[in-house]
Parts: sequence; C-alpha cells; structure tokens
Amino acid sequence: MTLQEAIIARHSVRQYETKPIEPEKIAQLQSAIGEANADGRLHLQLVTDEPEAFAAGLAKYGKFSGVSNYIALICRKGEDELLGYRAERIVLQAQTLGLNSCWVGLTFRKQPNRYTIADGETMHGVIALGYGKTQGVQHPLKPIGKFCKSNITPLPDWFRRGVEAAALAPTAMNMQKFEFQLLDNDRVAARTRFSLAGSYLKIDLGIVKCHFEIAAGSENFRWA
Ligand SMILES: Cc1cc2nc3c(=O)[nH]c(=O)nc-3n(C[C@H](O)[C@H](O)[C@H](O)COP(=O)(O)O)c2cc1C
Repeated sequence: MTLQEAIIARHSVRQYETKPIEPEKIAQLQSAIGEANADGRLHLQLVTDEPEAFAAGLAKYGKFSGVSNYIALICRKGEDELLGYRAERIVLQAQTLGLNSCWVGLTFRKQPNRYTIADGETMHGVIALGYGKTQGVQHPLKPIGKFCKSNITPLPDWFRRGVEAAALAPTAMNMQKFEFQLLDNDRVAARTRFSLAGSYLKIDLGIVKCHFEIAAGSENFRWA
C-alpha cells in the first residue's frame, strides 16, 4: 500500500483487537518517530502495552476499547502545525503496515509516568494505534470547492488531487476548517478558517498539508 492509497483507506478506528503489534512493525514506527523528532522540535513517543489511558469505566472513554498502544503527541510550544504534519505521515505509514489509528485530543486519560514532557513542551493528545475491529467508515465528503480559493481556472490536476486528499484527512471533531489557495502557477497558500472551537486548528492544518503534499506531489508546487 502506498501513502496515497493509505490516505483513502484510513478512517478513525476506536475499537481494537487485543492482538499486539509485531516487533518488526514497532521497529518501523520507532524509526519513523525518530526521524520526526530528529531536529528536536517534536518529542513524539511510542507507548506500548499501556491500557490505562483508555481504561473502561468512564463515559467519556466509552467509545474506545482495546487501545493499548499509542503515540504521545508532545512538542515544543508553537510547533503544533509541524506536529500535525509529521505525525499524520506516521499515521499513514502505520496504515501501510496494516494498522488502524485515531487521533485523540481529549478522550483519554494522561499517564505521565509513561512518557517525558520536557520544560517548554506541551502534550496535545495521543494517536491510538493497533489492529481495529473494523476499518472504520468514511466521514461524509464535501465538494472540494468548500476547501479552495483561487481565481485560476481550470485548476491544475495536481491541485485538485491535493485538495481531495486534504478533504479525506482527520480533523478535530471533523471540523475541516481549512482552505487552499493557488496563488500562481506553482505557489499554494494553506490557511485555517475561523472557528470558536479552535484549539486544534494548527494541528489540523499540518495534517491537511501532509495529505495535500503527498497527493499533489511536492515537485509540482511550493508552499507560499
Ligand atoms: C487533532 C484531533 C483531535 C481529535 N480528538 C478526538 C477525540 O478526542 N476523541 C475522538 O473520539 N476522536 C478524535 N479525533 C478524531 C476525529 O473525530 C476524526 O478524525 C474526524 O471525525 C474525521 O473522521 P475520520 O478520521 O474517520 O476521517 C480527533 C482528530 C484530530 C485530528
């Protein structure tokens, strides 16, 4: 499965089998996480065999079951967009390994003894990982015009592909408050649209830029 295929196959999955993730897949995830953390701006950490963050018994965790592996989403303050961008690439890599996932900002219980949050860093949530009981379902699709702004017609194919892939991306509460603008032949601006419930907008922007870039092809454009 390619990353482009993973963009189509990925849906949030909240119920997992007890089957553990194989050591070779753990190693691949650790290597992807190591790359994402290499410049010191992110501090993503893989936590395995840890069922407490999603333990049953509280209503707000009720949607989740069988979660015992996750990536703790920790980064320096102000690096939210980069966190979204790099962590979503790992989500898609996990999908190519046959794993399912779900970004989780709120509905989990922190387990501070299982990861390190250094001075100046913030934890934004986790990404649950594992073998889903199902493959999840596609969120309702909106026409791509909802996510585009451009005076240039016709829109180049690569730009349309990028926006279509962004529309498939996970966003907090499926808010999809983002917009892509083609500024000239090969310059693209990506921005968030206004929302009152905005604490995850920067992370969402990074996530949708990751999808856009994979589908549009980074050789076809540069970010404005
Ligand atoms: C930053 C972020 C935070 C999220 N937080 C939660 C959460 O706390 N609980 C939850 O059940 N889903 C959470 N989600 C998953 C979204 O609800 C989901 O991505 C969205 O509904 C779209 O569905 P899809 O991922 O299946 O395409 C979150 C997603 C993102 C990107």
